[in-house]
Amino acid sequence: MIIAVDGPAAAGKGTLARALARRYNFHFLDTGALYRMVGLAVLQAGRDPHDEAAALEAAQGLKPDLTHEQDLRSEDVGAAASIVAANLKVREALLGFQRQFAQRAPGAVLDGRDIGTVVCPDAEVKIFVTASPEVRAERRHAELAERGEAPSLETVLDDIHARDERDRTRAHAPLVPARDAYVLETSQMTREQALNSAIAYVEMRRK
Ligand code: CDP
Repeated sequence: MIIAVDGPAAAGKGTLARALARRYNFHFLDTGALYRMVGLAVLQAGRDPHDEAAALEAAQGLKPDLTHEQDLRSEDVGAAASIVAANLKVREALLGFQRQFAQRAPGAVLDGRDIGTVVCPDAEVKIFVTASPEVRAERRHAELAERGEAPSLETVLDDIHARDERDRTRAHAPLVPARDAYVLETSQMTREQALNSAIAYVEMRRK
């Protein structure tokens, strides 16, 4: 069984997807970490994420099993990730690994932007997690504060808007809910409520 969890920045996909994987004992892949790793590699090489050759080189040299060994969650790396992610060749270079991962038994949960639309269009369960930009900015702001990064709430909101715009309007694999996705609007929900709602949906699909 494949569970695809997609949605915009800081909507709570990661937390939800991890919790679902734990609940069902499935493998979990944060596909954003792959793009973040490519973005980080480009920055570390002193090159520009808009430089297509640099981004492709980084994607081809990626060791996806090592994503957990680097600190990928900073805002700079997130912004670089969303720039390299607009590059079709980068996306193609990362596709094979994601599809193979999705086939792991007894099941896999993948979170990202295009899992239900491009990576695993046949996934049995597709959940699109979203929340208003203001709520997402507050969540990301709290996450960053915990890490000791303290940009203003306004700066974080601007970044969320910029990233939404880039992710939604790009030509390749833009961020949109799959036609058959369950849309989970979490602005007014606690993490627990969102998880319960997702589990209820998975259970319905399993029957
Ligand atoms: O955690 P957050 O939602 O901020 O970002 P992420 O999931 O780590 O993804 C970082 C960036 O990678 C996003 O802004 C997307 O542009 C890109 N991405 C993508 O294009 N496709 C995916 N399947 C996952 C991430």
